[in-house]
Amino acid sequence: MRNVLSVTSECVPLVKTGGLADVAGALPAAVAAHGWDMRTLLPAYKGLIKKAAARKVLWQSDDLFGGPVRVLQGKAGGNVMLLLDAPHLYDREGGPYGNPIDFPDNPQRFAALSFVAAEIARDGLSDGWRPQVVHAHDWQAGLAPSYLKHGAPCDVGTVMTVHNIAFQGLAPAAMLGALDLPLDAFNSDELEYWGQISTLKAGLVHADAITTVSPTYAAELMRPEFGMGLEGVLAARAGELSGILNGIDMDVWNPESDPEIIPYSVKSLAGKKKNRNALIDEFGLSPTTGPLAIVVSRLTSQKGMDLIAGAADAFIENGGALAILGSGDPQIEDALRLLTRNHPGKVGLRIGYDEALSHRMFAGGDIVLVPSRFEPCGLTQLYGLRYGTVPVVAATGGLADSVVNQNVAAAQLKVATGFQFHPVDQLSFAYCLKGVTEAFSNKSDWTRLQKRGMNQDLGWDASSATYAALYERVSK
Ligand code: ADP
Ligand code: GLC
Repeated sequence: MRNVLSVTSECVPLVKTGGLADVAGALPAAVAAHGWDMRTLLPAYKGLIKKAAARKVLWQSDDLFGGPVRVLQGKAGGNVMLLLDAPHLYDREGGPYGNPIDFPDNPQRFAALSFVAAEIARDGLSDGWRPQVVHAHDWQAGLAPSYLKHGAPCDVGTVMTVHNIAFQGLAPAAMLGALDLPLDAFNSDELEYWGQISTLKAGLVHADAITTVSPTYAAELMRPEFGMGLEGVLAARAGELSGILNGIDMDVWNPESDPEIIPYSVKSLAGKKKNRNALIDEFGLSPTTGPLAIVVSRLTSQKGMDLIAGAADAFIENGGALAILGSGDPQIEDALRLLTRNHPGKVGLRIGYDEALSHRMFAGGDIVLVPSRFEPCGLTQLYGLRYGTVPVVAATGGLADSVVNQNVAAAQLKVATGFQFHPVDQLSFAYCLKGVTEAFSNKSDWTRLQKRGMNQDLGWDASSATYAALYERVSK
């Protein structure tokens, strides 16, 4: 076995605000199949040490950014977790980044994560484990390659994965000293970004290889419409940039054994109908013969959630119904509340985060809506495919890579698995939904469409082999 340290701010089952947590939680088992022993370094947010039964101290320091820190090894979801215990940084109420507003010391909080990752890579843990590769996820781990570059020489390879370029880890330039970064690293070829520090840029510049979570997003990232200012940095490293599509955990997301639902399989979708009825009851909807659409999402403009209200009117007039679960932008929440009031019995809304309900929704829905303006990979369309809940998606990023659009050619070739629309606006979304409603009325074709998605292998096999090959390539 060779060793890889995954550095992340979220990981299921310990802490999750989005898909990063699912991916970080799935990677260790996925790459183990290819001979890589992955341990996951994660901040010990309040309560996590107990949750992971982390007792073994494998690394410590008297002072890092204002307090003592230790690395405690525990286990969660079958994976080895290295929890970074730094009470002055992490032992507090709120989400991982603060809630509702970011903690002002987030630069130190996540620089500490990156700093310790580099120390572990350089000197190993007290049990002798030392990685050949550090795999850093998003801006929170972006400084790990920089600390490696600027400290004592070290033969570890580095991979930086972009899950979402919208979050760039900006910090005032005056913090360089406080973050233990050399002043001469503050230049436009390293971590300076429009007069500030960007920890994501630092990772993109210094990592041996850069990945993102779908091939289409990898190409999109080098264009101004998607690169969010970092397109030039990425284009300059195009040779080291690749897109590796996320998989899903095929055991957790399995309609045959999901404890939250009435089980069903691709052989017989009768059970899915029961889940549909249960979902209609749970959301207080009237029975409908049109498609029951579900939305499980952060309610943000990235996710195109502001388009739902406008596109829904015609969809509902044509017999559709809508069950929505999410939280986010207050304006979007209000617009969806209004939509619910305007369409009693046709639209149900739950504001909040509810993992169990999300499973019942994937089991009971006919279609899942993912109208994202940009989507590095997206997981809910994959859950939809797995549960026979046909995805209706914007043609962007990982959505474009994972859903085969039902157009004339795909229909003839019998390869379609869902519906795509472009451009991402209300008109084309509403038009697409009209086509979906028509297609839904042809029951035998619809069942074939559902089953084609359900039969797809959406697991990690292919992508984990690609990650393993990449680790091999960057390790020295
Ligand atoms: P992102 O990470 O950009 O939010 P993804 O599609 O990659 O988007 O991942 C989102 C993850 O969070 C999925 O596992 C999805 O099911 C879950 N999720 C999003 N909102 C909710 C919610 N309100 N309740 C339960 N699960 C949610
Ligand atoms: C980010 C992206 C999402 C992706 C997830 C996991 O949160 O927004 O598209 O699926 O990371 O890689």
